[in-house]
Amino acid sequence: MKQQVGIEAIAVAIPRRYLAIEDLAVARGVAPAKYTVGLGALEMAVADPSEDTVALAATAATRLLRAHDIDVSQIGMLVVGTETGVDHSKPVASFVQGLLGLPRTMRTFDTQHACYGGTAALMAACDWIASGSAGGKSALVVCSDIARYGMQSAGEPTQGGAAVAMLVSARPELLAIDHGTSGVFSTDVHDFWRPIGRREAVVDGHYSIECYLEAVAGAYRAWRERATARGFLNDASMPRSEQLARMIYHAPFCKMARKAHLHVRRCELEELAGAPLDAAALAREEREGAASFDAQVAASLLLASRVGNTYTGSLYLGLASLLHAQGTELAGQRMGLFSYGSGCSSEMFSGVVGPRAAEIIAAARLDELLADRTRIDIVEYERIMQLPREGTIAASPVPGTFGFAGVRDDRRTYAGSAAVA
Ligand code: CAA
Repeated sequence: MKQQVGIEAIAVAIPRRYLAIEDLAVARGVAPAKYTVGLGALEMAVADPSEDTVALAATAATRLLRAHDIDVSQIGMLVVGTETGVDHSKPVASFVQGLLGLPRTMRTFDTQHACYGGTAALMAACDWIASGSAGGKSALVVCSDIARYGMQSAGEPTQGGAAVAMLVSARPELLAIDHGTSGVFSTDVHDFWRPIGRREAVVDGHYSIECYLEAVAGAYRAWRERATARGFLNDASMPRSEQLARMIYHAPFCKMARKAHLHVRRCELEELAGAPLDAAALAREEREGAASFDAQVAASLLLASRVGNTYTGSLYLGLASLLHAQGTELAGQRMGLFSYGSGCSSEMFSGVVGPRAAEIIAAARLDELLADRTRIDIVEYERIMQLPREGTIAASPVPGTFGFAGVRDDRRTYAGSAAVA
């Protein structure tokens, strides 16, 4: 039997303030429905300079260790997926290792490829374990990012930020990954990027959607071929895209997941028909596609609709949302996950939900995290957006969290307390 590998446990950190997306729409003179219906957003996380990528990563990681009483001597690798790191050379992983007091006997590094960096980290950890190189140890994988496009930009309503920490091991009690079944698709495109030194991303928004759709179709086809060969898709009575219990998509905004799901279905229906869909088939697909989205995808979008884009963490917030809503009923079922990073690189993979998924996700206390936030108005949002990158906030971090505490002697410093001695 193939060695099991995947996600054993998960924890989340989100900024403590949020802006209601309707308030943003009103301030920008935009019909609120454009953001709430057109993009599918409800709220957007607003990170102040103390809640940087390191602080969020360390907070998520310490929550993971504390909630699951993890023996850190059993962690042999720490990888942080991020596209909004704080230094061109020193990785976020090193800061996290130091802040949490993790042992020195581990491999630490960051992975970067836009929003795909988190999946690159997860797959590196899975490969390390499955190859036997881990020698029985586990990996700590953290995805951490602040999504920032700038005020008055088209991307403004799709900002956000969060970190997701995952324990990856040979005991995948949350999600056992179908290792070796991934489908990948990558190409050199300028859809979204952030030149060195710039704080805000540059994006060719509508083109980026086209690039994402081309990638999801390509990665899905590649995954489908491998999944079929492994016997995961053998119900001849249904389209293969319907044979997964659920689909989770990278969600730069919630509507993108809907576009992706409908696109995959449409490609598959056209392949089956051997021609573009005629008017009757299109009308039928409008109804059936909407129902399929509601059943297969909608439950994974809770956090994305309340936090916004979280770049590397987006797909894994989708996993957390889905298991939070349906972890018990999904135990033992296979789901698909699609990761997209602009530039671009993408990967479709699948996994089976573990029997303890509902119990594990309950320890992430997602409802409490959302409820503990403070709603801010547009004036406060704009004030925070204009704070210097290395500005500090007078309040010290609440227990169990970390915060950037200023640059001293050219070194970034942090305040906060770790879960481990
Ligand atoms: N009521 C309801 N819906 C409305 C509406 C109204 N009054 N007015 C407009 N809409 C709808 C539009 O029809 C559109 O929906 P469809 O795409 O389904 O037609 C939607 O609202 C958005 O309208 P626009 O396309 O006119 O919006 P825009 O041009 O201002 O910007 C955007 C949209 C391009 C997504 C922009 O927010 C952006 O650039 N975002 C950042 C880039 C991004 O997220 N790209 C996604 C793929 S790249 C990726 O995934 C990597 C990553 O994380 C960045």
